[in-house]
Amino acid sequence: MKTFSLLATCILFAAVAAPARAQLSVTFYNSTCPSGVSKVGEVVRSWITSDRTLAPSLLRLHFHDCFVRGCDASVLLDVANGEKSAFGNANSLRGFEVIDDVKAKVEALCPGVMSCADILSLAARDAMVEFGAAGLNWTVPLGRRDGVVSSAAEANSNLPPPFATFQQLVTSFSNKGFTTREMVVLSGSHTVGATRCSTIQGRLYNFSSTAPTDPALDANFAASLKTQCQFGDTTTKILMDQSTPVDIWNKNYYANVINGKVMFQSDDALKRVAAGKTFVQIMRAANSPFTPEFAAAMTKLSQVGVLTGTSGQIRTNCRAVV
Ligand code: HEM
Repeated sequence: MKTFSLLATCILFAAVAAPARAQLSVTFYNSTCPSGVSKVGEVVRSWITSDRTLAPSLLRLHFHDCFVRGCDASVLLDVANGEKSAFGNANSLRGFEVIDDVKAKVEALCPGVMSCADILSLAARDAMVEFGAAGLNWTVPLGRRDGVVSSAAEANSNLPPPFATFQQLVTSFSNKGFTTREMVVLSGSHTVGATRCSTIQGRLYNFSSTAPTDPALDANFAASLKTQCQFGDTTTKILMDQSTPVDIWNKNYYANVINGKVMFQSDDALKRVAAGKTFVQIMRAANSPFTPEFAAAMTKLSQVGVLTGTSGQIRTNCRAVV
């Protein structure tokens, strides 16, 4: 009996200590919900067809989920002081209704089988593919389970802020298992999507006692941003990559970093240290490996800290624990 319980403890320990990444599989739902994965894609595509701005939002939602307690759909929970109310998330994250709709339709097919965490991970990928991101696609291994805890305090301490320094970004991403190069590559997601004017008010109008506008911004670019985001405007949203009028997937972000035409100090920070600037230049080059490296980094991001096996649960409604 004693040997048995020691053995059981060892097995349990091994299961907990083993990297959760190894336990996910693209075929996870093949027998339990064979049409589930394609249903996610079908529903997501219909949402993106009617509003393509939801694609970058779903990509960001997935990132914000994974950096807090791993990719466990904790960001989706409607609870007091949950992740949704964190600084970087409140009035900013979008796409929850897409996930609700997908979940309802997948539940109708296979009740209680597909996790919200897997749905969010698939939705981010399917949305970006439908967005029309040239050459962008990535593998999403499945089998994540849903967490039962969502904390604003944890989100505040795990999500890098837009005023993060280079070293803070390196530390934040390395805490989740990413190299500096991967951090620079994932930051390239800011080639799509929008920011609220409220997020850049400080850089435009109230930067420091000596310089009201951040001198790191190209002067013409700053002037253009000020016409789009007037002093005190907290509601307008503007494209983060202003180099093209239509939001498309490209490597322009890295030229923007070099040219002082990025929205956040955290974007600008990538060129302020040689270790970052080297990667910015590699991603900016004509033969840029940005898109394939971004895809690989997304597959890795989608497996950060996942719950598998009998950990966590499968929610029936992504906003509430069962
Ligand atoms: C490197 C550290 C990062 C910081 C400091 C950061 C910060 C921000 C901020 C402040 C916004 C604008 C929010 C608003 O004004 O409402 C934003 C938007 C966005 N971020 Fe990041 N981010 C980072 C990394 C990432 C990563 C790794 C991804 C995805 C893999 C990502 C994807 C996006 C997208 C797609 C948007 C636009 C969202 C939309 O259009 O709804 N970001 N980010």
